[in-house]
Amino acid sequence: MTPPPSSSNQDNRVLIFAPTGQDAPLIARVLEQAKIAAETCAEFEGVFNEMHCGAGAVILAEEGLNQNALERLAQYLCNQPSWSDFPLILLTVSGHVSSLQRRLLQTQQRLGNVFLLERPVRPETLISTVNGVLRSRQRQYQVRDYLEEKLRSESALRESEKQFRDLANTIPQLAWIARADGYIFWYNERWFDYTGTTPSQMEGWGWTTLPDPDVLPEVMKRWTRAINLGEAFEMTFPLRGADGKFRPFLTLVRPVRDASGRVARWFGTNTDVSTQKRAEEALIRTEKLATAGRLAASVSHEINNPLEAVTNLIYLVETSPRLDEGNRNLLRTAQAELQRVSHITTHSLRFYREPTKAAPMRVSEIIDSVVSLYQGRLRQGGIEVQLQYRDECEYVGFSGELRQVLANLIGNALDAMRPGGRLWLRVHCSRDYATGTPGLRVVVADSGHGISPETRHLVFEPFFTTKESVGTGLGLFVSKELLEKRGGKIAFKSSQRTGHSGTVFSIFLPLNAESASASHSFAGEEQPAGRDVGAA
Ligand SMILES: Nc1ncnc2c1ncn2[C@@H]1O[C@H](COP(=O)(O)OP(=O)(O)OP(=O)(O)O)[C@@H](O)[C@H]1O
Ligand SMILES: [Mg+2]
Repeated sequence: MTPPPSSSNQDNRVLIFAPTGQDAPLIARVLEQAKIAAETCAEFEGVFNEMHCGAGAVILAEEGLNQNALERLAQYLCNQPSWSDFPLILLTVSGHVSSLQRRLLQTQQRLGNVFLLERPVRPETLISTVNGVLRSRQRQYQVRDYLEEKLRSESALRESEKQFRDLANTIPQLAWIARADGYIFWYNERWFDYTGTTPSQMEGWGWTTLPDPDVLPEVMKRWTRAINLGEAFEMTFPLRGADGKFRPFLTLVRPVRDASGRVARWFGTNTDVSTQKRAEEALIRTEKLATAGRLAASVSHEINNPLEAVTNLIYLVETSPRLDEGNRNLLRTAQAELQRVSHITTHSLRFYREPTKAAPMRVSEIIDSVVSLYQGRLRQGGIEVQLQYRDECEYVGFSGELRQVLANLIGNALDAMRPGGRLWLRVHCSRDYATGTPGLRVVVADSGHGISPETRHLVFEPFFTTKESVGTGLGLFVSKELLEKRGGKIAFKSSQRTGHSGTVFSIFLPLNAESASASHSFAGEEQPAGRDVGAA
């Protein structure tokens, strides 16, 4: 008989223990002639050692055994692995039932697989008995191999399941698996982390408590359709997190088919797309602002000329001696309103005006000229101005734009201060903290009421103002755009602490505004506007 590949020769040999007479070598010879591997053991102890190394059967001569030996054998066989039922062939003495045989019959239950052969044994009987016994042992080896293989594949399955779970729990997405009918039976850990739910709450259709209730009917409609048609599902909708907030998730579900093409399962992932959504919204907003800006600039341009004409006409009418006091007051109000309109159009227009050539200048002189514009207000409010100029480095820039920026910063500072406030104006040569580009830093600081933490992120937004009818809310928006267009930056810090309130605006101007504006417009294609502007 050919042994199975996993059984070694050792496993198929027959051990012989017949210590008296010539039985052992005779049996060994008969078996070897029949091509059955045989090994004789001189000591009973040796039988155990050899069985331990592997054997297909043991032939024991009755006279070599005693009660003690039988007990040891029973003990040994008791500890066999579950697949093994080790075969013993017992050679008995003919003619009578010995006391040992009787005891053997009592112990047989515990010895298990015992065959009795009465001596003298004919070689054919011995060979056919041994062959039968070895065949039954072969079956046991098959069971052993099957069990080992099963254990191996179970452990491989456990390992691959573990790998799948590790992977599913490592990916940043929420993931889940559903039956063909859409019943979800597994979620990854991220799902539970994000939603703050438990497996029992989520099993089956528990997830329907999580989408935004407004979109749930649409989600159900599309998901049911996908299940009925066996088609992939894709939709972005908000899912509620453990903090109670909704975030948009891109949900992708793919069918997994069996060999016959039927949907066996669905694999689903939910990807948080809130950052992407925000970026898209910011892009749309920027686009809208640019369009609004262009529109405002062209409207301002069209309005400017008639506005000037109307202002002049009102001035002329106002100087007429025939005008009574009531009408004169009305005209003054009209003039004030026109001035406001003119302020708005100037802001909008300057922003989009084509740049002239950059020229060398002293920034301190520009500051002086702007301060002189505000002399009246400074005197009236009893504002103390502290100047500190250290701008010995050469600056090449656009004076009109810089004047506009400084006028707004100083105007804002004055608007924020009560009488008796302080205004600090400083300029010194410096470098951009982030890039090391040489430039000038101009600081406009005031002891005003400060900017509230709630509005700090809004001050550079167009049309944000706290000055009701007197402010347009374009000053800082335009200033920031003008500075960034020339490679400059603007940032501020503000405090509303009683007794220490105030705001510090700091602007950075690269020494050569013209070359910086060229490189800025190139870099600007990749970088979102205002990226470096920090608000305290
Ligand atoms: N130095 C400051 N102190 C306190 N608040 C300030 C200061 N500078 C700016 N702000 C706040 O920022 C807002 C926006 O300023 P911005 O210059 O853009 O517009 P505005 O001054 O209101 O109007 P305008 O377009 O006429 O300049 C102001 O309305 C004010 O609330
Ligand atoms: Mg302003």
